[in-house]
Amino acid sequence: MQRDMVWSSLLALLLATDAVRADANRVTLPDYRSGFAHYVENLERADPEQISEIWANRTALESAAGGAPLAYGSVLVMEVWKAKMTEGGEEPERDAAGRPVKDRLLFVAVMEKQPGWGGIYPEEERSGEWEFAAYTPDGEFKEMDYGAKCSYCHAPLGEQDYVQSWEALLAAAE
Ligand code: HEC
Repeated sequence: MQRDMVWSSLLALLLATDAVRADANRVTLPDYRSGFAHYVENLERADPEQISEIWANRTALESAAGGAPLAYGSVLVMEVWKAKMTEGGEEPERDAAGRPVKDRLLFVAVMEKQPGWGGIYPEEERSGEWEFAAYTPDGEFKEMDYGAKCSYCHAPLGEQDYVQSWEALLAAAE
């Protein structure tokens, strides 16, 4: 009898711990500027006011050479910058080489692949085993509904392991 009680309280404790863990975002902001491969540079986003820069860690880069899916431990980081706009505000300003000029860093988006991590999102908002996070330019974690906010564009890309910049990553891996 007493033994049963011990087991049931243990079980309750386990369940509670699990619930806490499911709520906490596990994707930390890595030191991507050292050691990561900067495989997308100065990309003009679909939104003409934004420019992105993307990095991959060694695991992502090395496993991309073998095609999708990427290995567990893969981490991809994207800086999203506000472009400096021309006077009329419709076009980004360009430097002598024709590249868009940056104004300021807006946020840093991170996705990390670990066994089971995608399971914290509802099935229809799941991008495989990837978990998403976004950080302010100061490195503060941004609180938001990541399943809803990030799956919209990433979740349909199962054939390329939910990575938008798949072609560029493959090219960098070769
Ligand atoms: C409106 C569509 C859209 C949504 C929503 C979206 N992304 Fe993306 N994401 C993209 C595109 C397109 C790229 C490729 C780079 C670019 O175009 O700037 C990308 C690239 C990335 C990358 C670089 C690796 C890759 O897949 O190419 C990361 C990391 C990333 N997104 C994280 C996030 C996070 C975190 C969220 C939610 C806060 C999010 N994304 C929501 C469209 C989206």
